[in-house]
Amino acid sequence: MKITDNLPKTLLLILLGLVVLNCEELNGQNFEKYNERSRECFDYNWMFHKGDIAISRAVKAGKYGGLTDANVKVITGEEAVIAYTDKNKVKSFVQNDWKAVNLPHDWCVEQEFANDQSKVIDGAPEGLVSHGFLPVGISFYRKEFEVAEADKGKKINIEFDGIFRNSTVWVNGHLLGNHQSGYVPSNYDLTDVLRYGNEGKNVILVKVDASEFEGWWYEGCGIYRHVWLVKTNPVHVDRFGTYITTPVITSENAKVDIRTTLKNETKSAREIILTSKIVDNKGSVVNSIVSNLSIEGLSKSVITQNANVSKPILWSPETPNRYKVLTEVAENGHVIDNYETVFGIRNIELNTTGFYLNGKLYPIKGTANHQDFAGLGVALPDKINEYKIKLLKEMGSNAYRCSHNPPTPELLNICDSLGMLVMVENRMLSSTDDGLKDLTTVLYRDRNHPSVFMWCIENEESIEGTVIGTRIIKTLVDLTNKIDPTRPATAAMNHGWNDAGYADALNVVGYNYGQRKMQYVKDHQQYPERKMIVTESASFTSTRGEYADNNEKGYVSNFGTNTPGWGMPPAKDWEHIIKYPFLSGMFAWTGFDYRGEPTPIYRWPCVVSHFGIMDYCGFPKDGYYAYKAAWTDTPLVHVFPHWNWAGKEGDTLKIAAYTNCDEVELFVNAKSVGRQKVKAFTRVDWKAVYKPGKLVAKAYKGGKLVATDVVETTAKPSRMSLNSDVSILKADGSDVAIIRVAIKDAKGRVVPTADNLVKFSIEGPGRIIGTGNGNPGSHELDKDPQRMAFNGYCMVLVQSDSKGGVIRLKATSEGLSDGEITLMVK
Ligand code: GAL
Repeated sequence: MKITDNLPKTLLLILLGLVVLNCEELNGQNFEKYNERSRECFDYNWMFHKGDIAISRAVKAGKYGGLTDANVKVITGEEAVIAYTDKNKVKSFVQNDWKAVNLPHDWCVEQEFANDQSKVIDGAPEGLVSHGFLPVGISFYRKEFEVAEADKGKKINIEFDGIFRNSTVWVNGHLLGNHQSGYVPSNYDLTDVLRYGNEGKNVILVKVDASEFEGWWYEGCGIYRHVWLVKTNPVHVDRFGTYITTPVITSENAKVDIRTTLKNETKSAREIILTSKIVDNKGSVVNSIVSNLSIEGLSKSVITQNANVSKPILWSPETPNRYKVLTEVAENGHVIDNYETVFGIRNIELNTTGFYLNGKLYPIKGTANHQDFAGLGVALPDKINEYKIKLLKEMGSNAYRCSHNPPTPELLNICDSLGMLVMVENRMLSSTDDGLKDLTTVLYRDRNHPSVFMWCIENEESIEGTVIGTRIIKTLVDLTNKIDPTRPATAAMNHGWNDAGYADALNVVGYNYGQRKMQYVKDHQQYPERKMIVTESASFTSTRGEYADNNEKGYVSNFGTNTPGWGMPPAKDWEHIIKYPFLSGMFAWTGFDYRGEPTPIYRWPCVVSHFGIMDYCGFPKDGYYAYKAAWTDTPLVHVFPHWNWAGKEGDTLKIAAYTNCDEVELFVNAKSVGRQKVKAFTRVDWKAVYKPGKLVAKAYKGGKLVATDVVETTAKPSRMSLNSDVSILKADGSDVAIIRVAIKDAKGRVVPTADNLVKFSIEGPGRIIGTGNGNPGSHELDKDPQRMAFNGYCMVLVQSDSKGGVIRLKATSEGLSDGEITLMVK
């Protein structure tokens, strides 16, 4: 090869060398070493300590310039040394009252239930009750980690998706800050206080003080969402630094506006090339916009780029098509940052005639939900959120309300990709600095998600409809509209709609239980320009598989004999959405039962609410079929109760059905008990004398039989069947299989009253992370590898390890033949 062949390469190398030199001059660092952004999952290998630790006053106060000598001792009862006298070594650290944990972690749910009013929470005797009788308190998390020498010069931030609550963070003895909210993410810049390479190990210590509440439901305790370590070039896209909107959409073209906030954390001005590539769902770049710019030292700069996407494929819950913007920041020919933003192209409009998605009337079929789940409390692996959203979608729901707080960001990714509209809710009705900061953070974080269609600023605050309340909500709505003019802001109000101009401050007025005194109908007549949504409805109480109220056990009948005054039968709320088109949709309270707020029993032994359309494990209650009938087109009939009433032979019993058909006929032991015309969204009732046998409900549309449901008297429990939602798990240490266990008779019919104790054992690369059965009066431990069936069912959650193999989960129960299931991990 001639020397000239290599000339261009040689020239390039010389040029590159100059560039590197240039950057070295600017930064005192080798530029090429840190041209990649990384976002590492920081969930693993934490140590956990339950209870308070006497931290020296100096650390608490963060005095002395952040304690740069790092000679800070944090003492447990047994003298655990958290920081070091010798910065380069991890010194004696007493581990005996610390245990190893991975995140997400909720320690509250690991405890025994306690009906102990001396453990009064937040100064209120009802505190413990509304938290589901699980005591709260203080805890610490600690993690040692290394940072490579090569990371020197990068900006390193830690991002907590959510800690419940009042968290204080130290790294290497330096106080980094305190964050109150249990629902809003927090972020700390660790760059200066880290030890790089040979400088030694790093220690992060997080104090979590959950002894106060933010709500009136189970809120958990701990670092219950993911944690991320984010490393960037000092010139980078800011945290939540992109905002993508699609102001004009036609079938031919979508106008895409991309606003990027760049942050220069060096002291000199920088010449930057910003490239935004729009990528479609097949991974093809469909447009690319390049801008040259200069950013001052130690400043931020907002750059707007306008692009087009031709023949856009729109996002909707039915077709959740997503696009991405890949942001590339380059300087002197080097890419110094990459950032990815998922967005969707869709049109939303909410007016006095309803909610419109992509130009079509699209009534909101929503459920409101708290964030917890059986076996796990609030520390949900992403898979559980995915499972919950899938169950809601199967029921026909198209919208999710994160009540009464901002969700974990992963939930929104799931809703984007599975197709579920979301109303993101703010926790505090507060226009203080902290209140505004929290709301701002959530708006910046969530405003690119195509699933998010509305912001809810508050729920049922007592100052609704007051002069001061109006000022506060106006400040928050104005801020919301400024940060995100593309989505309306509402408030989930239960009073004061027409007082002090409160409702006028909102873009859309939310009605919680607005059927009371037909408030929303009257208000529509009086204020025809008012845009309205039913932010909360239903509050129908029922316990899966129960047909009589039982105060002692904490059960509520599915016949609806104990619904609170503000509540209504399942799917009755939907009747109003159809009848009154000015109501743009509804959110039924709630999709799933949740821990705490055990209305209407409201006391021991009941530790779980009864509002769920599904129980705490996601098993459907009877009311589920009322919603499914209302929200889907498939002809459906569901008949209840079960037909196992030993001892009640000869008694007259009530039988009911939910259906979306015109007529339904019930047969009891092959004899018709009557064919009835169905009033839409209304339960059909019969009475019949009990004799073991069979209930058959036949449903007709236009005179044609289109759906049948059968309930049979079963024999006694004989075996178990294990049914997993997946047969293969990812070997990523976080995937989860949801395994439903049914107790069946010899003929394979689920025994609807079975309460057998099921014991689980596991072999292979996985572990049991929780169990549940949906029984609101159960005090079994969520983390025990055993569970009594409740009315025929229980559930076990299995999480994969990070290595492959075969998991064998075995279930044993006295008097029943064993059950087993295998799962592949790869
Ligand atoms: C609503 C409230 C919810 C829940 C519900 C129970 O008023 O917004 O958080 O308490 O009542 O019916």
